[in-house]
Amino acid sequence: MLVRAWLILRAFALSSCRHTSFAFSSSILHTTPSRTTLLYSRTNPSTIDGPPLSSKPDYSSIHGPFGPLLDRFLTILFRERLASRLGERQHPNEIIIPDSSRPYHDFMGIIEITHAMNTQYTNRTAVQILAQDTLISLFPSFILDRYPSWFAKPFPEFSSKMCAYATMAFGTWLMGECEVNDIPSGEKMGVLVKRCRFLGESQCASICVNSCKIPTQNFFRENMGLGLTMTPDYATGECQFAFGVLPTEEEEREARNTPCLSRCPSGGGLRSFHNAAPEREEWLEDLNKLALAQGASCVLMDD
Ligand SMILES: *[C@@H]1O[C@H](CO)[C@@H](O)[C@H](O)[C@H]1NC(C)=O
Repeated sequence: MLVRAWLILRAFALSSCRHTSFAFSSSILHTTPSRTTLLYSRTNPSTIDGPPLSSKPDYSSIHGPFGPLLDRFLTILFRERLASRLGERQHPNEIIIPDSSRPYHDFMGIIEITHAMNTQYTNRTAVQILAQDTLISLFPSFILDRYPSWFAKPFPEFSSKMCAYATMAFGTWLMGECEVNDIPSGEKMGVLVKRCRFLGESQCASICVNSCKIPTQNFFRENMGLGLTMTPDYATGECQFAFGVLPTEEEEREARNTPCLSRCPSGGGLRSFHNAAPEREEWLEDLNKLALAQGASCVLMDD
């Protein structure tokens, strides 16, 4: 009886992030797997520590190539766009997320609203769409209307390099130090984020995947006409962007099986978020879109 209660409690605690983590080696598991963990390892997640807080950079002193003023402007612009998208109901089932009381140039204001969004929505797809809408609202329509047909399609390599450079230049305030690097498919078509500020401050892999990785990849594919694969490493806080590269089915599946960061502030809300039904149909739909974009037949049909 007691053992049973203990197991239920334990499962409940672990279920704050329901995901499994086949992608992570046991060397970075939070605890060495005991007999019980092994028994549960198929359905229960592991926790990973993430990079040590003691080596966390002073992000306020890291700036993109255009300097602190532009970074401050971008912080304010992003916050304003995010707050206004979350503060209006464009569909009847959307939840109004009030703006943070922090000043607009305060990075933590963005983190606060993102947290609120992730705790109040149980539907991951809805969160991904809200984040993608925010990205769209940051760009003037003359860019979004023309980029796919003028640049992305006729000059995919050049476009990938351009986006890599722009991501580094205009994303440093959000992600911390980054550099344009070479990826297997081409020179200077990648961006390496050294230790992501957004991930570091939100302390939640699930927020990273649903409010950043998936919406950003979807934004580049659907709105810029360019493939993008983002590969976060939760143990180090690094993230590798690969422009011109569509995520594979396996990468997407792994991304969804995020482990839980031990510092994840998963209160009651995030628990239900993590526990939300896997939304299999939407997941399939995403993949269908991907497959269509790649000109291949659906890779998951026989799954
Ligand atoms: C989740 O949100 C998406 C987008 O708003 C919607 O199409 C879908 O029906 C929602 N799923 C559930 C289970 O409510």
